[in-house]
Amino acid sequence: MRNNIGQWPTKHIDRRTFLLAAGAGIAAASVQVSRADEPSETPLRQRAEKKGLVFGTEVNAGPLFSLKQYQDAVLRDAAMIVPENEMKWRPTQPTARQSNYFNADRIAKFAKDNMLLLRGHTAVWHQNPPAWTKDIIGSDDGQTLVLDHARELINHFRGRVMEWDVVNEAIAPEDDMPDNLRNWAPYNKGGIDFIADCFHAAREADPNANLYYNDYSVYYQNQGHRRDAILSFLEKLKSKGAPIDGFGIQSHLIANAEFDENVYRRFLSEVADLGLKIRATELDVSDVRLEPDIKLRDTIVAAHTKQYLDVLFNEPAVVGLVTWGMTDRFSWLHKGWPRKDHLRQRCLPLDDNFAKKPMWYAIADAFDHAPSR
Ligand code: XIL
Repeated sequence: MRNNIGQWPTKHIDRRTFLLAAGAGIAAASVQVSRADEPSETPLRQRAEKKGLVFGTEVNAGPLFSLKQYQDAVLRDAAMIVPENEMKWRPTQPTARQSNYFNADRIAKFAKDNMLLLRGHTAVWHQNPPAWTKDIIGSDDGQTLVLDHARELINHFRGRVMEWDVVNEAIAPEDDMPDNLRNWAPYNKGGIDFIADCFHAAREADPNANLYYNDYSVYYQNQGHRRDAILSFLEKLKSKGAPIDGFGIQSHLIANAEFDENVYRRFLSEVADLGLKIRATELDVSDVRLEPDIKLRDTIVAAHTKQYLDVLFNEPAVVGLVTWGMTDRFSWLHKGWPRKDHLRQRCLPLDDNFAKKPMWYAIADAFDHAPSR
């Protein structure tokens, strides 16, 4: 008999593992059986396209241009790519007078040569200004510097990038600043008007690109304050006439966190009511809270992925899904959020050796069961 998530060998997962998965609040049982006529190895991009959705992945120029298996994996499953770091400010403008688009241009060429859609990430982000900008950003010239950078970057890729994360992670309620904006000099000085200016600059620099605001941590029960803050921020941005087309939901998930489908469904529909498109832009599932057992981790990660994507794809405003990498091998989480036991995280669709994991089949299954657009 066909198993729960494509080829995932459920019969080898013992009862204890299943009970633990269930006890973790994960609706393992809600993982649906694939339709019998669906070839289980059909690439993710085709399953997505069938529903009017797009599947994409983040790529890193290092392995993309040196490791055939990596490139093959991207080309097999993805219809869209986004550079992990290569378009960020630090690598693209190492000194005040010098731009360096070498790696970003290579990725853009790779996208064009292989007819892949290209996302741009990201023009305005407090975390990535190069060292030389530090004093300027804190001065009265800070806003101009950031706007000029956004304009130059987006203009450089004019006609090549279909969608930009114009502004990334501007909301930080914990910083206790007006409008829940992050405590960063350009936001402190210019407020939401400055962010609206960033969107205007982006539209001028490439009138045909879709413009997104991108942010994190809006999925779980204890993130209600962030959901509220982001909704009211997006509403204000729109009412100021900022040319914004969509909201990118990063989707750095945590297996074992408390997820309420109804709360998330409502949040998505409230974003949609603002007239915005929605894309999950950086999906990965951290297993830091799970026991070491690999099968157990893979089970819970896959079930959580499926549960999350089912809610996501049921919202008509959702246009697609991008994972923050295809393979565990190069995930940022190993450094960014290491497990206490130092084991490698199993957070992405393919394992360290590019073999499909239950998470791959969970994504496949979610696309297969998504309503058509
Ligand atoms: C991460 C990259 O994956 C790392 O390689 C880098 O060191 C830091 O940034 N949210 C984002 C992404 O918007 O740009 C981040 O990417 C992950 C979190």
